[in-house]
Amino acid sequence: MRPRISVIGLGYVGLCTAVCFASKGFHVYGMDVDVERINSLSQGRSRTYEPQLQHHLNKALKTHLFQPTVDSELAVEKSDVTFVSVGTPSLEDGSIDLTYVKQSSAAIGASLKNKPKWHLVVVRSTVVPTTCDSVVKPVIEETSGKPCGPEWGLCMNPEFLREGSAIYDTLCPDRIIIGEYDERSGSALDNLYRSFFHRKIPTKRMSMVNAELVKYANNAFLAMKVSFANMTANLCETLPTADVGVVTSAIGLDKRIGQGFLRAGLGYGGSCFPKDIKALTAFGREKNIDLPLVHATVEINEKQPFRSIDLAEKLIGSLSGKRISVLGLAFKPDTDDMREAVSIPIIKDLLQRHANVVVYDPKAIAQARRIFEGSITYAESAVECIRGSDVCILVTEWESFKDLKPKEFAKLMKHPAIVDGRRLLDPSQFSRVKYASVGLGSNHKTGTP
Ligand SMILES: NC(=O)c1ccc[n+]([C@@H]2O[C@H](COP(=O)([O-])OP(=O)(O)OC[C@H]3O[C@@H](n4cnc5c(N)ncnc54)[C@H](O)[C@@H]3O)[C@@H](O)[C@H]2O)c1
Repeated sequence: MRPRISVIGLGYVGLCTAVCFASKGFHVYGMDVDVERINSLSQGRSRTYEPQLQHHLNKALKTHLFQPTVDSELAVEKSDVTFVSVGTPSLEDGSIDLTYVKQSSAAIGASLKNKPKWHLVVVRSTVVPTTCDSVVKPVIEETSGKPCGPEWGLCMNPEFLREGSAIYDTLCPDRIIIGEYDERSGSALDNLYRSFFHRKIPTKRMSMVNAELVKYANNAFLAMKVSFANMTANLCETLPTADVGVVTSAIGLDKRIGQGFLRAGLGYGGSCFPKDIKALTAFGREKNIDLPLVHATVEINEKQPFRSIDLAEKLIGSLSGKRISVLGLAFKPDTDDMREAVSIPIIKDLLQRHANVVVYDPKAIAQARRIFEGSITYAESAVECIRGSDVCILVTEWESFKDLKPKEFAKLMKHPAIVDGRRLLDPSQFSRVKYASVGLGSNHKTGTP
């Protein structure tokens, strides 16, 4: 019989895992401490926007294979495998906050106390090295009164999904990393994934601590590529005919480098890179090991959003009293997530300069209202956003913004001037309006050499 699944923590990661398992015919108990979240999920409403998520949620509820609950005991008792996907935010000093990991471990342990059958616990949350060995395992052992190994199993199975394509990534991952406490635990998870995917996904089995490190090293390396591209972009802007897009796409053809994450822009944000890199830095501090590449990555990234302000000033001078339209608020397209989005420091800086800020995002307006309340104006469309503005800063590369033609900017804006912070638009089409883009030399109008 197919193992039954429980998922503890139904945020981006947990909900995608839960509905994808359900859509493949597994019975899934999804547990969260957030009662409102559980109520709305039970009624078929996800508070999280992700392409395909609503479709999979509807299907999972219709087939009764997904059961949202606030009862962790029920979820663990009725299942064979429990995935832990609770949040691991940052503490004030940047180090990882393991409160939710400890709470969920304690709840799992309490539920395992009277469960006669062997049960597998799989940590999917991003946790710093040794957390599974030194936190999850002892907490569950203490609360269950049962030793890890003979009575229950433990794996660390990092998640690599990208918001905006979370369902796709859950169904078609590049690889699976299984950090295992022992052979039995690793094999149980390996077998579960074989029956889930119906095809062989490259799988690496290793110790739990190595799996924990894989996740941090992976994210730090990708963030470093982004900062490298942005550093190169800043250099390009000092050279009149240079174009970072030409440079990075050429170096990306080198197989040793690869094209991914070399797109210059206004820096990375989101719920993972910034917090994971802070946690890695704090972990390095605790271990007395310097991580200079990580520090440089962060330093470049923290400055990068403000390139958009510099470029706007170059185009129109002082921003004080000017109407600035900001296109895009989410940290990336196809999500409504504004956690650590670069739009936040940009808008705050504009407000400090006494600019009038009007914003538009296809999905993230509700999130933005919670952050900026009445201090900015919220437009209902991109066209309404740019109307009457002195300069437009494009912050998130939503595909729909490509539909805005130079003629519309010229007709609708007070003084047409565009800062393309994500290199989304084709500069050759904007020769008649003031246009600046990250990584483009000042005399470069065509985007080609
Ligand atoms: N979001 C991503 O793109 C992504 C990608 C890879 C890995 N991760 C990692 O996965 C983990 C989860 O991330 P997320 O973005 O889904 O977080 P999230 O904040 O969206 O969701 C976490 C959920 O856990 C719930 N929760 C907290 N404590 C709980 C408890 N004791 N019992 C049950 N539920 C509890 C919260 O109510 C919330 O619904 C984090 O460690 C994150 O770093 C996230």
